[in-house]
Amino acid sequence: MGYYKVPRSVLFLCLFISFCLPCQFLAYEVEADQPVQLLIDASEGSGRRIPDTLFGIFFEEINHAGTGGLWAELVSNRGFEAGGANIPSNIDPWSIIGDESSLIVSTDRSSCFERNKVALRMEVLCDSEGAHICPSGGVGIYNPGFWGMNIEQGKSYKVVFYVRSTGAIDMSVSFTDSNGFSTLASANIIASASDVSNWTKMEVILEAKSTNHNSRLQLTTTKKGVVWFDQVSAMPLDTYKGHGFRKDLVDMLTRIKPRFLRFPGGCFVEGEWLRNAFRWKESIGPWEERPGHFGDVWMYWTDDGLGYFEFLQLADDLDALPIWVFNNGISHNDQVDTSSILPFVQEALDGLEFARGDLNSKWGAVRAAMGHPEPFDLRYVAIGNEDCGKKNYRGNYLKFYDAIRRAYPDIKMITNCDGSSRPLDHPADMYDFHIYTSASNLFSMTHQFDHTSRNGPKAFVSEYAVTGKDAGTGSLLAALAEAGFLIGLEKNSDIVQMASYAPLFVNTNDRRWNPDAIVFNSSQHYGTPSYWVQHFFAESSGATLLNAALETNSSSLVASAITWKNSEGQSYIRIKIVNFGSTSVNLKISVSGLDPNSVELSGSTKTILTSANVMDENSFKEPEKIAPIQTLLESADKEMAVQVLPHSFTSFDLLKKSVSLRIKEDDSSSISSI
Ligand code: AHR
Repeated sequence: MGYYKVPRSVLFLCLFISFCLPCQFLAYEVEADQPVQLLIDASEGSGRRIPDTLFGIFFEEINHAGTGGLWAELVSNRGFEAGGANIPSNIDPWSIIGDESSLIVSTDRSSCFERNKVALRMEVLCDSEGAHICPSGGVGIYNPGFWGMNIEQGKSYKVVFYVRSTGAIDMSVSFTDSNGFSTLASANIIASASDVSNWTKMEVILEAKSTNHNSRLQLTTTKKGVVWFDQVSAMPLDTYKGHGFRKDLVDMLTRIKPRFLRFPGGCFVEGEWLRNAFRWKESIGPWEERPGHFGDVWMYWTDDGLGYFEFLQLADDLDALPIWVFNNGISHNDQVDTSSILPFVQEALDGLEFARGDLNSKWGAVRAAMGHPEPFDLRYVAIGNEDCGKKNYRGNYLKFYDAIRRAYPDIKMITNCDGSSRPLDHPADMYDFHIYTSASNLFSMTHQFDHTSRNGPKAFVSEYAVTGKDAGTGSLLAALAEAGFLIGLEKNSDIVQMASYAPLFVNTNDRRWNPDAIVFNSSQHYGTPSYWVQHFFAESSGATLLNAALETNSSSLVASAITWKNSEGQSYIRIKIVNFGSTSVNLKISVSGLDPNSVELSGSTKTILTSANVMDENSFKEPEKIAPIQTLLESADKEMAVQVLPHSFTSFDLLKKSVSLRIKEDDSSSISSI
């Protein structure tokens, strides 16, 4: 069933735990006088199918999640646009190599790209010969990337830039350490004056001869003259499916098997002001031509290399359904009047045509030109984000709803208004439910949807997390509360169709929001305990929910049971239990409806997420201090007495014996398994 390769330290911990189990009875207070029973009905046909879409991910461009994160572009502010369209502008984080006596660097608006006119002008005053000799390493500019570029020995990187000059050029393109002292990879670019008298695209592959996680990209020369640069990009050649995504971070996503991808925000979609909100049309087409924009909610510039097309591509690559959240004419501080909303409605319709239109449609043809002739499988859109309480929400919403329903009758539309406690006053296929709260609140919300009407639209819990002091930057306590909440969602999955944690990623150099599921810097990453909780639910989407009754007086325990199949067709019963309390629990599990001897001992496992202290967190130093530990379940059976550790999340996977059938075919016989 493929959890993950168990690191040696974890194996030691496992051994330690099994040796210490007897002592644990002494160490923990055991709820001995409270017999706790979990009765599970596994009889054929008794369960209910969980929606295929139940657990997915919500990607927001927050915390430098995409730019300087999932999107593998190494250069920050590659087009020199981040300082604004007015010149002179701030070229940060670019810096100058050399002093005023040897070069003058400025910005002008001479770029060949219409939507991003700012270019960098570099006047080199020194030369390789004559009275004013350049310093030996040359003069020029460098870019440190997003808090250092991760350049790895043996790996290749494609560097592209646009250049123009008044004369011939002779320059070095190199990756160096953060001070420019040692060179990791370098190439020379030589061109005659006529070759570069107009803007010219240069492309070079650099192979790194050593590793440095905090490198920079340099463009240097010892040749006198005037050179302009624009759209300087450096990408590793080795990206996920060759589509530009940082591989190690996508691997973290694939491990939790997301069934949908909600994107690109969040508040990022709204903007503090509409003029700074994400606009899909500005984020498509050749990367060089994209204007980029300043996201004024999370306060950073993005070149929009990770644009609308790339999000749809990512969903495709993950085999997850895309859920596009678009701006409905409302930001945090301004709103378009419903009487003037039609251009925004048209923008959304064009976005749908871009994703789904055929090759003869205007926007479908643009998608095809970007390399994806087949339509993307876009079936869900969210009309705005957290805007239900805003004055124009309902008016604007209905304009979008009607137009999309007419043009795309099958598209499911998600409203920002919560329909879980009272009926909606407008039509919708689903409603958004967001919850950020304390650990005890979220844990008790395991019953949130128990009494929700089953007649209205379905619920999409598109953002949930424990926040505040219970969570720190990703505590076990927060994760356990989330596990309890998710068990509640699993049980109510007849009404809750989708759920995703938020936020998904944080670059530790720009923590705008705590906690997050996946933490990274230029070269490292780890999952917080909340990430690992999601891992326990990876098999739930599309599985069968079994009737499970927990007989206990304790309000600190919640449990569920499902049956699921692995990729080899083996069937498991997965029993998940959260113990949110500080006492160990002796639990009797009885599974009815199974034939005698129908549980395989050898493949049955127990997986535990816990730690010595509820406020423990993972870190770059101890990335898997709190991670699921899987061991064989020696007591696997229909009837089991197990101990559930305090402050823990445990799953028991009982491998069901396959029934062998002997099929007679003429005079030969074969055996097949079901
Ligand atoms: O997940 C972080 C933010 O929380 C999202 O941008 C927003 O939708 C919510 O308020």
